[in-house]
Amino acid sequence: MADLDDLRDGSDFSAGSQAPTGFHLRGLGGQDWGMRSRLSRIFDPADGKTVMLAFDHGYFQGPTSGLERLDRTILPLVPQADALMLTRGALRTTIPAECGKGIVLRASGGPSVLKDLSDEEIAVGIDDAVRLDAAALAVQVFVGGEHETRSIRNMTTLVDRGQAAGIPVLAVTAVGRDMVRDARYFRLATRIPAELGAHFVKTYYVEDGFETVTSACPVPIIIAGGKKVPEEQALTVAYRAIQEGAAGVDMGRNVFQSEHPAAMLSAVRAVVHDGLKPDEAYDLFRQLSS
Ligand code: 5RP
Repeated sequence: MADLDDLRDGSDFSAGSQAPTGFHLRGLGGQDWGMRSRLSRIFDPADGKTVMLAFDHGYFQGPTSGLERLDRTILPLVPQADALMLTRGALRTTIPAECGKGIVLRASGGPSVLKDLSDEEIAVGIDDAVRLDAAALAVQVFVGGEHETRSIRNMTTLVDRGQAAGIPVLAVTAVGRDMVRDARYFRLATRIPAELGAHFVKTYYVEDGFETVTSACPVPIIIAGGKKVPEEQALTVAYRAIQEGAAGVDMGRNVFQSEHPAAMLSAVRAVVHDGLKPDEAYDLFRQLSS
């Protein structure tokens, strides 16, 4: 206990509010402190952007290419990511607790690739998410899918639990094989989760009208990388998405299935955080891979 011998009255009571102004993420400034703190572990407060490394694919695909041995392929990439999107199994078995990254925990699951993927349930309890110090919970939302209503219910349940615990929820728009992937669909599929309380939304980039998807969504949008394409193409998609209003990328296969994953992740970071153009970022990729 501090001693009581020298109790001095304070005198520096300058006028003006002490409250910090603004918050670096759209639509989220009114959230409680814990929520904003966790979001700041995912989105860099310096620019409001994030590069998330997604490797939760095993939760429905098993050991897909690049994810056979997370310790060998993913661990070396961790220092370069702002946040990691993964399952609690991968977290507990493979990721060191001292890594210091925002943990975006896969919180829905159930069906494998052999079944209807929209048939998901909530797959993580809020107590375990707290124990794991999750910075966010990720839940799949199947707008137009067979189990659309249940997937939305999964999301709203997690939002209720997340609001109580101060943990934000990432709604992941899932697209079925036979769904049209255009701006009209993605405006619908991103706006619905935002209206129902999701704190940020992950979706896919579309060439025509992506800026209408980001402008109609009141919370930050990040994009999935999608299937593996040549590096320059993936960097171009990341660049355009950021230019057209995305707050970051959550990239998986285009990083860990690259011949040079670390170089690719560096190039993606340069696009998202430093504004490198696709050709400049590709030059960086080639330089780093040689
Ligand atoms: C699985 C996911 C993946 O994390 C997401 O698809 C990102 O990975 P990729 O860049 O490989 O598409 O949400 O449902």
